[in-house]
Amino acid sequence: MAIILGLESSCDDTAAALVDSDRRILAHLVVSQNEAHRPFGGVVPEIAARAHVQILPDLVRQALSQAKLDIGDVDAIAATAGPGLIGGVMVALMTAKGLAISAGKPLVAVNHLEGHALSPRLVDPDLGFRYLLLLVSGGHCQLLEVLGVGSYKRLATTIDDAAGEAFDKAAKLLGLGYPGGPAIEKLAKEGDSSAVPLPRPLVGSGEPHFSFAGLKSAVQRASASGVHKPADIAASFQQAVVDCLVDRTRLALQACGASTLVVAGGVAANQAIRSALQQLAIDTGRRFSVPPGWLCTDNAAMIAWAGAERFGLGMVDDLSAPARARWPLDPDAEKVRGAGVKA
Ligand code: KG4
Ligand code: ZN
Repeated sequence: MAIILGLESSCDDTAAALVDSDRRILAHLVVSQNEAHRPFGGVVPEIAARAHVQILPDLVRQALSQAKLDIGDVDAIAATAGPGLIGGVMVALMTAKGLAISAGKPLVAVNHLEGHALSPRLVDPDLGFRYLLLLVSGGHCQLLEVLGVGSYKRLATTIDDAAGEAFDKAAKLLGLGYPGGPAIEKLAKEGDSSAVPLPRPLVGSGEPHFSFAGLKSAVQRASASGVHKPADIAASFQQAVVDCLVDRTRLALQACGASTLVVAGGVAANQAIRSALQQLAIDTGRRFSVPPGWLCTDNAAMIAWAGAERFGLGMVDDLSAPARARWPLDPDAEKVRGAGVKA
């Protein structure tokens, strides 16, 4: 049994967690910087990086004290090393390197996307490889075959915006503020999802990818027209995203034949999206797995767990491991127009 300390600071959440290889979560702390970024309607990288520096050291202390552990009890130190906002990524990675040197522990440099990809295995012990993963977050919207730790085949990605980005932009257009996903989900509950006709980009297409830019423009027009209630626009927008995700995932299931469907990433916290994909799994005879909401949005338990998986396989990194703004899970995936820019 190994105990792993995980650190995360790649976007606007500062997080520290302790997880063991028997799937026990010994400590899990997240400090959201939402209030600091809200006035700007999105994440300001410089503010985020400075806040991570202020918050993270104490969070590590708190995590160890909650778990009643000393740094000497930890077997390895894992940190997100990318992709993400580079100033932020450096904070957790450099903190981890410092701890690794001073405590004489191995470092595991974790790809944030692998953190999301393996997160369901922390809470679902029966989830074996391989599985089809719909990874939906603020920066990414991809369908990947997860073949094993460190082994991914990308089947689809977005040609423009990520799903979470679409939620955030639609929320901004509706004056709901940042972050947009939870705000849209809440308002959508009071609206009629069939009230506003909105496009479903690429639905029905044989091309495997996603697109959300046209949907965002349509929300802008619907909002500017003044004809529709914001709740109806929110509900109709959410339904359009659901339809796009389900249609694209159905196509990927046909293409790859995986027997299990998994959804992860911040957008997977959305109840309508979880339910629709669960229904797709039932309809297509697939096993379904989705982590609880707190494990979908950014956290360090998923980084500690990915660290535990890698450490268990002897995949440790030396102290020259770089912080990376871009770091695709499948480096061999062919470039798609407009995409690849964010990974
Ligand atoms: O995985 P995550 O926490 O950070 C990234 O790695 O990007 O994902 C953040 C994204 C944001 O765009 C946020 O609006 C979206 O996930 N999100 C949601 C919900 N909760 C978070 N989108 C839809 N419904 C939600 N309940
Ligand atoms: Zn994330």
